[in-house]
Amino acid sequence: MTSSDAKLLPTLTDGLPLSVDRDIPETLAAQLRRGILNLIRTDALHPGVRLPSTRVLAAQLGISRPLVLDTYAQLAAEGYLSLRRGARPVVAGEAVAPPDGEEVLAEPEQIRFDLRPAMPDLSMFPRRLWLRSLRSVLANLPASDLGYGDLRGSPVLRHALADYLGRVRGVIADPAFIFVTSGFAEARALVCAALYAKGVRGLAVEDPSYSDWVAVNKSGLRRTPVPVDAEGLDVPQLAALSAGAVFVTPAHQFPIGGVLSAARRQELVRWLRERDAFALEDDYDAEFRYDQAPIGALQGLAPDRVIYAGTASKTLAPALRLGWLVVPSDLVETMAGELRRWSEGPPRIDQDALAAMIDSGAHDRHLRKMRRFYRDRRDRLLSCLASALPELATEGAAAGLHVTLRLPDQIDAAGEARVIDHLRRHGVATEGLGRYSTTCAGPRRLFIGYGRIADSAIEPSIRILASAVRELAE
Ligand SMILES: Cc1ncc(COP(=O)(O)O)c(C=O)c1O
Repeated sequence: MTSSDAKLLPTLTDGLPLSVDRDIPETLAAQLRRGILNLIRTDALHPGVRLPSTRVLAAQLGISRPLVLDTYAQLAAEGYLSLRRGARPVVAGEAVAPPDGEEVLAEPEQIRFDLRPAMPDLSMFPRRLWLRSLRSVLANLPASDLGYGDLRGSPVLRHALADYLGRVRGVIADPAFIFVTSGFAEARALVCAALYAKGVRGLAVEDPSYSDWVAVNKSGLRRTPVPVDAEGLDVPQLAALSAGAVFVTPAHQFPIGGVLSAARRQELVRWLRERDAFALEDDYDAEFRYDQAPIGALQGLAPDRVIYAGTASKTLAPALRLGWLVVPSDLVETMAGELRRWSEGPPRIDQDALAAMIDSGAHDRHLRKMRRFYRDRRDRLLSCLASALPELATEGAAAGLHVTLRLPDQIDAAGEARVIDHLRRHGVATEGLGRYSTTCAGPRRLFIGYGRIADSAIEPSIRILASAVRELAE
């Protein structure tokens, strides 16, 4: 955020609509945290609003400044506030600049080489197949299906998904337990609301992980990071927490890229059963696995405890906004109740077009083609990296749409940010560990996406990347 942006932020200089009560057993700090959180969750304080200074708030409430300071620090550690030395805290969320400057990247004409992870090659969207599916849906859909329909989504798509997910991912899916959502984004918000309604309060999340926490924070769940290593989530560390749910990416840890090992899967399932806890399995890119047989979904081991989430954002395109959840039977009612409060689901015609693609075999053919396409591009990227930076290890390349590059040991978090900044100034957009974790220890990393880069651009972009890493490692 630039200083001129900061001046535009709405500021609360006169305190907050809050009070504390010294006659109740709850501590003053807990009351203050609860009060501020309430204002954030009800959107009375929305992202970007600057809170009063500790002096103003302490004077307003008749409490000490250190107490306000500690509460602000606690809320910042939980991701609700963004703190900067010498400035008032700002409510975190979409309005706060992300750590590595997405705002700068929002000027696409300045990006010559886009190596950001997690985006498919949009030019490969199967327009002809999609049109054919849409045509067949519109030709055959009875008028009675153009009404509001089932809240869980089109029955046609839910049946197609049940077969597809069983066949391709080993998911145990009854169409009655499937919810079609507007991508993983809506699915995650829905799961958070349902977990909270079920009494869950503590949520464990992988560290690092997909880092848009607005929905999680708003739900009231308290987030605790758990480290990951080459075998995925560190389940023994999870077991030491009192969380009632965990979010995981077992097939391809996002963003590092490890696979949750068989032993960890067993341990995780044991933990889920012992605690009566739930896992949200984000299976975002499992269709793209290149060097070994696909690894079955965790959900297949514990369909009563694992909520499975999939998306069409990598296999087809994010613009479709199509995702799905397979929900344990005893969460179905709660989930439907939460869904009813805010959504009627994605457009029925698009849902049925996806079902038509799956049922006709066109979806399978498209995936086979894309797997070959991405594998060739990944191989080209790996070979460029191996010749430009032979001393650096890569991870997570067996699947997905990005490769993880371990930076030299002498590059710390600030050095990583400098590498990314240097690259950006040379027209190369990429992301580092700092974007996905503020607490993660160990080597620094870059995540190099190959979804958006043309084959011919791989070599020149990696040459720029290699010279940036070399220069900043000196
Ligand atoms: C880890 C992860 N999960 C899920 C998604 C998909 O999100 P959505 O379905 O909302 O597009 C993404 C997209 O970038 C992702 O990186």
